Amino acid sequence: HPAGDFRPGRHHLDVVAHRGASEDAPEHTLAAYRKAIEDGADALECDVRLTADGHLVCVHDRRVNRTSNGRGAVSTLELADLAALDFGSWKAPADEAEAPDRDPDRGAPDHDRTSVLTLERLLELVSDSGRRVELAIETKHPTRWAGRVEERLLVLLRRFGLADPPPDEPSPVRVMSFSARSLHRVRAAAPDLPTVYLMQFLGPRYRDGRLPPGVGIAGPGIRVVRNHPDYVARAHRAGNRVHVWTVNEPEDVELCVRLGVDAIITNRPRAVLTQLGRR
Ligand code: G3P
Ligand code: CA
Repeated sequence: HPAGDFRPGRHHLDVVAHRGASEDAPEHTLAAYRKAIEDGADALECDVRLTADGHLVCVHDRRVNRTSNGRGAVSTLELADLAALDFGSWKAPADEAEAPDRDPDRGAPDHDRTSVLTLERLLELVSDSGRRVELAIETKHPTRWAGRVEERLLVLLRRFGLADPPPDEPSPVRVMSFSARSLHRVRAAAPDLPTVYLMQFLGPRYRDGRLPPGVGIAGPGIRVVRNHPDYVARAHRAGNRVHVWTVNEPEDVELCVRLGVDAIITNRPRAVLTQLGRR
């Protein structure tokens, strides 16, 4: 109930690692996702973009400037160009003493921390993880490509047997987007794949908790939830679930639990699981 007490561990809510355990390791790297799996995250969030030669890679920004030592838009670079860049050294290890030292060769670069990550490699990591880990995949700038991002995504998901989940079982993959058109394309090709409509602001159209046709999960930013605390209950009454991003502060975790949200997307899965009494 929206007015209920905050009681860690009472309400099951999924903890989703935003760009991996991105507080501890460089976002969207294998190291960040391995850490999230080790930390016990229920799901992994990733953004996908198409390279000039048609590969889906996990990169948030349009350009690689912030998260690598290169420059330029992902869409103008080929996978081989991205593979030559360092996607990890911009971020110092959270704690030098505890930094993961996965490379047996001391001093050698840790490729898990520095290499560009393809969606294909991330799907392999999840399928080899030995436990159920869900994936929340966000299509970035999908309109630019007139359907190619979704097309490639579905080819890849089909190859891993993930595009057509049985309708009566929870799907291990969901597709998220700020673009209703992108979600529509996904549903047209894979009707049983759950979709999440991301919202930075709560427009008048969706205030009553409804979503674009066929979408079953609302993805409001934490500010939407803070500013419209009734929204979660309204979405639930409309038959939709609510996955909130990006929830890093303990008081926001508490608010989400109190309001009964269904998933928290966070840069700090370990800390959130601890707060929820699950670690
Ligand atoms: O999980 C949704 C959230 O990631 C959307 O915002 O900018 O971090 O992709 P952004
Ligand atoms: Ca995202």
